[in-house]
Amino acid sequence: MRSIKVNLDKKSLSSYEICIGNSILDRMALLIAKNHKAGHHIVITDSNVGKLHGSKLLAALKDVGLNVDLIEFPAGEPAKNIHTVVDVAGRLLDLGADRNSLLIALGGGVVGDLVGFIASIFMRSIPYIQIPTTLLAQVDSSIGGKTAIDLPCGKNLLGTFYQPQAVFTDLSYLSSLTEEEFNNGLAEIIKYGIIDDAKMFRLLEDNMEPEKIKDPVLLLKLVELCCRIKKSIVEIDEKEQGLRRILNYGHTLGHALEAQSAFALSHGEAVALGMIAAARISENSGYLESGSRERIERLIRKAGLPCRIPEYLATGGIISRLKMDKKKDGDIIHFILLKKIGMPFVNGGIDEKIITPVIEGMR
Ligand code: GLY
Repeated sequence: MRSIKVNLDKKSLSSYEICIGNSILDRMALLIAKNHKAGHHIVITDSNVGKLHGSKLLAALKDVGLNVDLIEFPAGEPAKNIHTVVDVAGRLLDLGADRNSLLIALGGGVVGDLVGFIASIFMRSIPYIQIPTTLLAQVDSSIGGKTAIDLPCGKNLLGTFYQPQAVFTDLSYLSSLTEEEFNNGLAEIIKYGIIDDAKMFRLLEDNMEPEKIKDPVLLLKLVELCCRIKKSIVEIDEKEQGLRRILNYGHTLGHALEAQSAFALSHGEAVALGMIAAARISENSGYLESGSRERIERLIRKAGLPCRIPEYLATGGIISRLKMDKKKDGDIIHFILLKKIGMPFVNGGIDEKIITPVIEGMR
């Protein structure tokens, strides 16, 4: 099992380990019992993940002597809202949860974001652990302490920064993912190559064929590389005051597309489109050479992710969503642009006149 330490805030209290391995359920349970003691461990998951992995995790935690319960809520992005928070909080109280309890988020991005949010506010905060089961959550959302729920007008508009006590990443969970779920994670992996590591981008170009990219040795290497990139960014800028913004490459337009499609587009599909748009804006603004933009588009296509914005998403609606982005400054919409692959920067504001033709050009 590999272990990566996330050192935060120069105080050991908010630092934590990301443990990565293949089929690590029993070791994970032992480590939780040894290092994350609590009066009551409560696993929170969604209806899909609960069915697949809930009882095995519960049994492993019981085997090491823990007092464990499980709460399930309906799967899917529409459940990531305040009603689910209130419902889960009520069920926590029914189970007798108190400030000596510890929550365990078992699932993908929705579960991790929602459970992290509940942990950050339940009884003015209780500890939690992330056990990400999707590729997207393993390489991105489980690390760095961003928690959130959606509001009707936009994604992740209520949230906190609240770090987990530990992240346990078991690659064996990936074998239960659908093709679409796996490709969602590939979008975030491609993002890390684009923003931080030109060598990793080349590795992806050489291995994006379905039979190669799922090789367990390569996957372990990629997940570890992404976790190391993310942790080093989060260590410098935990609360997204500056550097951490580069992790949002492709997400500004991505979140707008995702919300405008009422989540018919998955997060990975929307981010893939957002990454292409950001590369095109970079090229049109004279920052990025066309060869690099073409490589980005080719890799995204090879990963089975979309390159065209669906016609049913009207440009005006997408622009209105962009104006609601929580990362905007007044009327300025910040985009993460590229000087080259591996060299991103935060642009001070992109005019609607530049964004509109890029959206239209991707029909
Ligand atoms: N997913 C972007 C971040 O954690 O900052």
